[in-house]
Amino acid sequence: MAPRRAALRLVDAILRRGDPLDVAMHAAAQGLTGADRAFAVAIASETMRWMVDIDALIDGATAQILPDDVKSRAVLRIALAQLLALKSPGHAVVSTALPLVDGGPRRLVHAILSRAQQEEWSLPDRATLPLPAAERWAEQWGLKMVEAAEASWSAPPPIDLSFAAEPGADEWPEALSLAPRHRRLPRGQAVEAMPGFDEGGWWVQDLAASLPARLLGAGEGRTVLDLCAAPGGKTMQLAAAGWDVVAVDASAKRLERLRANIERTGLSAAIVRGDIRSWDPGAPADAVLLDAPCSATGIFRRHPDVLHRIEPRQIAEMAALQADLLARAARWVKPDGTLVYATCSLERAEGEDQVAAFLDHHKDWAVDPVRPDELPDAIAPDGSGFIRTFPGLLADAGGLDGFFVARLRAPSN
Ligand SMILES: C[S@@+](CC[C@H](N)C(=O)[O-])C[C@H]1O[C@@H](n2cnc3c(N)ncnc32)[C@H](O)[C@@H]1O
Repeated sequence: MAPRRAALRLVDAILRRGDPLDVAMHAAAQGLTGADRAFAVAIASETMRWMVDIDALIDGATAQILPDDVKSRAVLRIALAQLLALKSPGHAVVSTALPLVDGGPRRLVHAILSRAQQEEWSLPDRATLPLPAAERWAEQWGLKMVEAAEASWSAPPPIDLSFAAEPGADEWPEALSLAPRHRRLPRGQAVEAMPGFDEGGWWVQDLAASLPARLLGAGEGRTVLDLCAAPGGKTMQLAAAGWDVVAVDASAKRLERLRANIERTGLSAAIVRGDIRSWDPGAPADAVLLDAPCSATGIFRRHPDVLHRIEPRQIAEMAALQADLLARAARWVKPDGTLVYATCSLERAEGEDQVAAFLDHHKDWAVDPVRPDELPDAIAPDGSGFIRTFPGLLADAGGLDGFFVARLRAPSN
């Protein structure tokens, strides 16, 4: 029962309070051990991924539509996610669902779950996006992108690893290599148990997330400010590429993870806790990488809760914060130096529009266009020299997170 109860609390925290799943997990899954905790997260994640389709099944089976926020609908959602997405045995799903309805219409819940089994309900091939996200993306990118996004999040994505140095040809023979110092593995393996975890030669990082640091090339001892650095995926890439890295982040907790990552990989970076809106580096750097906080709608495949939480108001708030951070970051770049701006968002307001507004206010700055030869084969720069990745890219090889990346050049004096 405990993982199911925790999953119910998680779904409630996401839908009612708008909490991210990984934040809600700390309170909701308290006291659960590893496997139970992972099961609670899997139930909540699959409920978020398939919620639109599960709701359609529930609504097709009731004479009167159940209100969105009643307990019985929440219990049915997590029960059907177990039955149809996680393929849990029917008797276990029913016997653990009914006690969760406490005081509600148990007979109705029992009847719907029995019908689901008798009629062998199934989920469609593609998980339907929540309507606000589908409409927003159709308007920005077109219907084909929405279809590709639905196909891409219908299963959890593969695991991408970034390496400090190119692994040998005989290492990771079963993995796909889509770029230098990159390997892609099928989902379902425990990361800590993979070969070389303790030696620290690699870390988990989606291929799209590795692109911003790749645009800075080899550091050769030059300095880079890695702003909004935690948990440190880009810090490790930059340190491994020979940059002298100062990694800055406002969150002490996330910086602990960055420190642990740096220690595990044996790389080196100066770690600073600071809020970019008030912190100051003291001296300008050869390069600045700003991996700005954002709506995170681009990583919806691995965080399916995001599309049920993010509304236009939050996108606008994030865009305003990004504009502040970008203007400050620009002050810290040496003449002729490079500023890379990135977000894991599929919203223009946090990508293309953000950089257009920056260039409008910084007339002496220029775009340093990304060249096709700097990118993996399946990814091409857009017409403005930026990188815009979509979840439908590399579809046959397991897809890609949605990212925006721009490389900008500071004026020469
Ligand atoms: C997209 S994540 C960074 C991911 C990281 N660059 C990596 O590759 O692992 C954004 C980060 O911005 C940090 N952040 C948000 N607002 C900030 C601010 N005003 N000043 C400094 N850091 C901030 C958050 O704590 C979070 O760690």
